[in-house]
Amino acid sequence: MRNFISSNDVNNIDALVAKALQYKADPYADRALGTGKKIGLLFLNPSLRTRISTQVAAMQLGMESFVFNVDKEGWAMEFAEGAVMNGTTVEHIRDAAPVLGSYFDILCVRSFPGLQDRASDYAETVINQFIKYAGVPIVSLESATLHPLQSLSDIVTIHEQWKLTGQSKKPKIVLSWAPHIKPLPQCVANSFAQWVNAWGQAEFIITHPKEYTLSETFTRGASIIHDQDEALAGADFVYVKNWSAYENYGAMPGDYRNWMLNNQRLSVTHAAKLMHCLPVRRNVEIPDEILDAPNSLITTQAANRVWAAQAVLSEILNAHS
Ligand code: CP
Repeated sequence: MRNFISSNDVNNIDALVAKALQYKADPYADRALGTGKKIGLLFLNPSLRTRISTQVAAMQLGMESFVFNVDKEGWAMEFAEGAVMNGTTVEHIRDAAPVLGSYFDILCVRSFPGLQDRASDYAETVINQFIKYAGVPIVSLESATLHPLQSLSDIVTIHEQWKLTGQSKKPKIVLSWAPHIKPLPQCVANSFAQWVNAWGQAEFIITHPKEYTLSETFTRGASIIHDQDEALAGADFVYVKNWSAYENYGAMPGDYRNWMLNNQRLSVTHAAKLMHCLPVRRNVEIPDEILDAPNSLITTQAANRVWAAQAVLSEILNAHS
């Protein structure tokens, strides 16, 4: 593995999931792998789970990590080629990325979309410019359109939870749109759809109000059902997430507050496990009665972020040692 930006960077998802679970069983099994290596974590946007879990994963592989909150502490960065920098940006990615690449063995980047210009966001300019100019492996800590470490952790969580049931059939997974008070990126939903489709070991349904269609690039292979109750029937896992519109880009059309689930509406599922990537706006996206119920996997998912990150960093270190 050279970079980790999407499921397309992974040859064998099952093997990567197995690797993550090996680290969960024995966190320090490869503590010598990263000795003497340095990892840089650059944040152009906030984070709790991604930042800390990746640092813990790197530490368990023997690496030393450095966090740089570019948005708060760095120079305002320019990403456009040929830009005349007579405005607010101070440093060009062509200059900053090679410098950062000279300091680190692996560079990780978090950068959210602007949600103003779909073509620009979906071109993934920020992460692609780091790949182009840094000269070291790049790991996405969430980019304009995808969140691969989250999705790997989600697959790890579904795999281990489903195994506990002892069932041999494929689980039914429903990705269910939820209301929110402000427009959010499509990253988590895009990424989850991409990974579940690539994994191929589930019956996969996506349900959302008709204005919230996601890019077919990521959803192809899933069934799309606009009737939420119909979609939920018989579900084993329900992944709840808000996203803003892809077609009417970045907008929040309609009033769909009635899409927030409750225990009564989940009664049509197979006692489904409830998933969300966090942070979650309680009683806006999901009510307390679901988040605090025994079937909620939100903490398990977040805890598994460490093992997902460790599996990815280990693959990169092995490929470049
Ligand atoms: N789920 C997730 O990526 O959390 P953070 O934004 O806190 O990293």
